[in-house]
Amino acid sequence: MKHFTTPSPYLRLRIDQAGPERKLTALHIVASVEREYAAGLLPAGTRLPPVRVLQHQLGIAKNTVESAYEELVARGLIEGRSRRGYFVRQDHRQRLKPVKPAVSMLFEVPPPRSAASHDRDLIHLGSTFIDHELLPRERLAQCFRAVLKAPGLPAHYSLQGHAPLREIIARRLAKRGIPAKAEDVIITAGSQQALDLVARSLRKRSVAIENPAYGIGKRMFEISQMQMVPLPLDPFDGIDLETWRRRIDAARPAALYLTTNFQNPTGYSYSTGELVHLLELSQELGFGLVEDDWGSDMLSYSDFRPPLRALGGKNVLYLNSFTKKLLPSLRIGYVLANEASRSALLEAKHVATLGNATLVEAALFEFLRRGYYDTHLRALQSELDTRYHACLATLASVMPEGVRWTTPGGGPTLWLELPRRIDLARLGERLLAKKVLLAATPSTWFFGEPHLHGTRLGYAFLPISALQRGLDLLAHEIRRELR
Ligand SMILES: Cc1ncc(COP(=O)(O)O)c(C=O)c1O
Repeated sequence: MKHFTTPSPYLRLRIDQAGPERKLTALHIVASVEREYAAGLLPAGTRLPPVRVLQHQLGIAKNTVESAYEELVARGLIEGRSRRGYFVRQDHRQRLKPVKPAVSMLFEVPPPRSAASHDRDLIHLGSTFIDHELLPRERLAQCFRAVLKAPGLPAHYSLQGHAPLREIIARRLAKRGIPAKAEDVIITAGSQQALDLVARSLRKRSVAIENPAYGIGKRMFEISQMQMVPLPLDPFDGIDLETWRRRIDAARPAALYLTTNFQNPTGYSYSTGELVHLLELSQELGFGLVEDDWGSDMLSYSDFRPPLRALGGKNVLYLNSFTKKLLPSLRIGYVLANEASRSALLEAKHVATLGNATLVEAALFEFLRRGYYDTHLRALQSELDTRYHACLATLASVMPEGVRWTTPGGGPTLWLELPRRIDLARLGERLLAKKVLLAATPSTWFFGEPHLHGTRLGYAFLPISALQRGLDLLAHEIRRELR
C-alpha cells in the first residue's frame, strides 16, 4: 500500500490584485506578504502557499512565484526549507493567535436520547414501527436493481420529486376518493419533512395541535418557534368540540394539525362526524387544516375510510408516508398541496434540501408500478390484524383491574391507561431492568399536566411471543406498583 505524507497546512494569503495593466508580477506577491507581515499576521514558522498552488490560483508562471519567494527570502521575512517549501522566519514575533468565538452555540441543549433504544436485546413495547421482518426488502431490492440497470442514471434531482412517482401517487389517491393531480404532490423525506415544510410556510406562526401530540411533530413546531394551541384529546371519550372551538377562537391559530387515523400516541381515529364538525369549524373560524394520514393502510379495508381531504376538498393539506408501511430507511412521504399552497411549500423544500434522492424515488415508483405495494399491503394488513388481536387477548388475560386500553382496530399502536397511583417513571425503570423498554416519557406528548396516565403500546413491532412476554412483565410490574 502506498503511503502519503500529509503536507503541512499553509497560510491563506490574499494577493493584491494587479493594476490596470492586469499583469500580476512577483512584486504584487511580495507586497501582499509584506502587508500581512506589517499587520503582524504571519505567525513564525508557518508555511506559505506552495509555489504550484499560487501559480495555479493566479494563472501565472511558476518562475514568477519563485522569484517573489526568493525576494522575500532576501528581505529576511521567510526562509526556504529544502523540499518542504517556504516558511515565515522563526525570529519574527507575530501576533496571530486565533481567539475562540465568544459564544459557543445559540442552540438549546436537547435532552439526551435514551441509549437503551438501540439495544437489540430489549423488548420495545412502545415502538411505532412495524416489524422489519414483515417488510418487503427483497422486492424493494429488485426495484433498486432495476433502476440501477436502466440506461442512464438520472443525473439531476427534481425539486418537487420524481414525476412518475408523483403521478402514480396521484392515481392511487384518486382511488381512495381524493381527487389529486401529480402537480400537487410534493415528495418529501417522510411525512416529517412534509410537516416541516408546512411549518416553514405558515406566515402566522401558530398552530393548533392535539394534546397529547405526536412527539417529534410537537418538538419540530417548538424548534420552529411556533406558538402551539393544545387541544385535549381523550382516546376513550373522543374530543370535546366545544372546548376545541373555544381554544381555537381565543388563539386564532393559522392551522390545525391533526392525525386522522390511529393518532400517535393514543391510537385514536376521528369519527366521520367529528371530521365534518372540524371542517365546519375551520370555515367558521378561518383556520387551515393539515391532515397527517400516516396510519392509513395499516388496517384491512382502511382504504374505505374517507380521510379529511376526501371530505373537505383541496384546501385540506394532506400528508402521508411510505416509511412505516414499506421500509423506514426509504424516507419517502409526500404532501398533497393545492394551487394556493404549492409554490410556498416548494420554496420551503428548496431552501431545506434543494431536492431529495431521485434514485430512491425512482425505485419506489418501480415498486408501486409493479403492483408490489398492493400485494405487500394485503399480507401486512392481515399480519397486523393477527398481532392486534393477539395483543388485545393478552391484555385482557394479564392486566389487573383498573387498567384500560384503546381499541383502534389498526395502526401500529394503542394507548394503555393505568391507575393514577402508579409511578410511571419507576415502572419504566423496573421494566428496563427486565429488558423491557416502554415508550417516551409523558412530556414528549403532553402539554402541561397530562390528563391521561399511561403509555403507548406498539403491537406491530414485536413477534407475538415477544409481545406476550413483554406484556406479561408489564402486567407483573403494574401489579407490584398497585400493591
Ligand atoms: C403521526 C406521525 N406523523 C408523522 C410521522 C413521521 O414519520 P415519517 O417521516 O417516517 O413518515 C410519524 C412518525 O412516527 C408519526 O407518528
